[in-house]
Formats: sequence, structure tokens, C-alpha cells
Amino acid sequence: MKMEQLLLKLKQSLLIPVVAVDNLESVIPLAQILEKAGIKFLEITYRNENAGKALQILKEQHFDLTLGAGTIRTLDQAKDAIENGAQFMVSPGFNREIIQYCHQQDIPFIPGVDSTLSIELAVAEGLRTLKFFPAGISGGSKWLKAVKGPYFDIKFIPTGGISIENLGDYASLSNVVGIGGSFLAPKSLINQKDWDQIFTICVEALSIVNKLKNKE
Ligand code: 3PG
Repeated sequence: MKMEQLLLKLKQSLLIPVVAVDNLESVIPLAQILEKAGIKFLEITYRNENAGKALQILKEQHFDLTLGAGTIRTLDQAKDAIENGAQFMVSPGFNREIIQYCHQQDIPFIPGVDSTLSIELAVAEGLRTLKFFPAGISGGSKWLKAVKGPYFDIKFIPTGGISIENLGDYASLSNVVGIGGSFLAPKSLINQKDWDQIFTICVEALSIVNKLKNKE
């Protein structure tokens, strides 16, 4: 998938649930409930040994979900994620080796930034779509509004500390092209198999986003 295609898809549906899979049996019911709620993305994080297998299961089932691999901090993780069907990659930070590898593989890579310095580093690598992480404690929507002037050509995917309560602060900003978070499918609810509650959260989040999108 090309970055342009990813951005078009994000335009239709901003929300990216970020999930670390504790139990592989939860992957299919989780994807089913996200799909039913109208979610279009799922980011599986490389925070445990299940990530590659979880991506593989999702790929084989052909869900209507664009698959991301998150917490990509090493080249081996990037290779594993591509092999298992990840369509885009996200990192909490900035790793030039991975950026270059993903560029060669023609797969969108979204590095994490939290400062003007890291924005500049990413721009120097030719990247224009960046994860703002950890958004909540790094200045939240105020930071995004402040950087919009000087970095008018840069788009952000705030992640980290986003909740149903503050989602609206981010959704209306014109430099926000996606919003990531574990709040859409919290680990506790996945482990309790509380699919109904995850459905309710996602439907509410989508309705907030649809009301506020491009309202700035
Ligand atoms: C991530 O991996 O992007 C974040 O850990 C998600 O942050 P959250 O749990 O605060 O949503």
C-alpha cells in the first residue's frame, strides 16, 4: 500500500485501534467486532511474541481492516511485519534504518515525533505523515495547533493518552489525519471477551469523529 492510499483511507475513517495481542484466540472475534462497528484499521503492536502471528491470522481472514504493525523499533520487527501482511508501520520513535528499509519495500512508515527537532529529522527523510507520541503528555491538541503554522505541510496521527473524553479535541484539527489509541479496544475488555463493550466504545468514537471531522 502506498502512503497516498493510506491517507485516502484515513480520510474516510480516522480511527486506529492500537492493540497488543495477549491471546491469539482473541484476534478473530476482535476483528469481527471492530469491522461490525465500522472501524477500518487495526494496528497490532510488536510488544510481545504474538504480533507477527496475529497479523498473519488477520491477513488470512481477509477482514475489511487495513492492517498496521505498531511499536516497530528494530529492522527484524519491520521485516517480520511485512512478511506477515502489515500494510503500514508505526513506531514510537525515529529509526533511520527502518525508514529506509520501508521506503525500499514501498510500505508507509509513520515515525513517532514529539518535538520540532524530530519533525525536522523526519522531514529530512522525506516523511510528511508523522505519529505524535505520546500525544497526551507532550502537549496534546494545543501542541498540534501550535505546530500547524510553521509545519503547515505536515500531518499527524496523535496517539498516546487519547480517550473518548478528549477524542473530540483532536478530531477537529485540520493537521490530524488519524487518531490512534488503545481506548478503542482496551486490553481489559479484550481479555474479558467483552466484545459488546468494545462495539459500544467504537460506535461512540466514530460518531464523535464524524461530527467533528474538518470542523476547524
Ligand atoms: C501506542 O503504542 O501507540 C500507544 O501505546 C497507545 O497509547 P494509548 O495506550 O495511550 O492509547
